[in-house]
Amino acid sequence: MLYKNSDLPKGSLKKPYIYTNFVSTVDGKVQVVTDWKSYWPIGSETDHKVLTELRAFSDVLIHGSGTAKLSPFVTKVQNPYLKKIRKSLGKNEILPYAVLSNNPDKKLISHLKNYAGGKALLFTSKKSIVPEDYDLHVNLVRVGQDKIDIKEVVNYLTTKLKAKRILMEGGPTLFGSFLEKELIDEIFLTVAPKIFGNETEKTLSLVENRLFPKEKVINLNLASVKQIGDELYLRYKLVK
Ligand SMILES: NC(=O)c1ccc[n+]([C@@H]2O[C@H](COP(=O)([O-])OP(=O)(O)OC[C@H]3O[C@@H](n4cnc5c(N)ncnc54)[C@H](OP(=O)(O)O)[C@@H]3O)[C@@H](O)[C@H]2O)c1
Repeated sequence: MLYKNSDLPKGSLKKPYIYTNFVSTVDGKVQVVTDWKSYWPIGSETDHKVLTELRAFSDVLIHGSGTAKLSPFVTKVQNPYLKKIRKSLGKNEILPYAVLSNNPDKKLISHLKNYAGGKALLFTSKKSIVPEDYDLHVNLVRVGQDKIDIKEVVNYLTTKLKAKRILMEGGPTLFGSFLEKELIDEIFLTVAPKIFGNETEKTLSLVENRLFPKEKVINLNLASVKQIGDELYLRYKLVK
């Protein structure tokens, strides 16, 4: 294992430990928007193993709707390796899965079907309209009037799920919101030895749809660097 469960802060119900994990190319790209499957996976098998390990250490996994709509993660996340680690740690084998959407549509709901651990949590705002029959597939939680209030999402996860560790995997748009609200404690970032390049709107970088004002640039402390083959596994703490 690259990181051990004991390497990560325990977190508490009052102050959960919130971390993220991304894989990026050397030119900072985390996805090619069209034809993404031809470019995926960005990282190696080892990177995928590390991703599974980091998931296993968490009490809940959060995705934004953009990421959740890409693939039915509900089934893929709960793989035998994840279950084995969680069992060895005395955790429930199934990792709770939460998705945030202000406009949940049928595609999103269909991707959240067949969750192995009961139902996925779908956070939305009080005013959003949700497709019929959603309650067959998800547990809906409304937080925020016109838009989801992500601090309330965190409060819900600590109070109702008793989550002390929260893994927020993004994607880049949701990551930007978490950074803006100063909710992220640490970033795990794999740098894959590739360069995708870019044309307008054809790729996504680590943070999208947000340019931080110069006085609010996110500053990081490098906590560790590990090299496996040509990949770098970086761990950063947010300067607060
Ligand atoms: N390389 C990597 O490590 C990595 C990791 C994760 C994801 N990805 C890639 O990233 C892509 C998706 O990224 P994305 O940026 O398009 O989508 P995203 O960050 O996964 O989801 C963003 C969407 O979540 C909803 N949302 C709800 N509350 C929000 C809030 N407070 N702030 C921001 N968004 C909120 C909005 O959609 P609604 O209209 O539904 O409200 C928003 O458009 C996928 O292709 C995925 O594969 C790559």
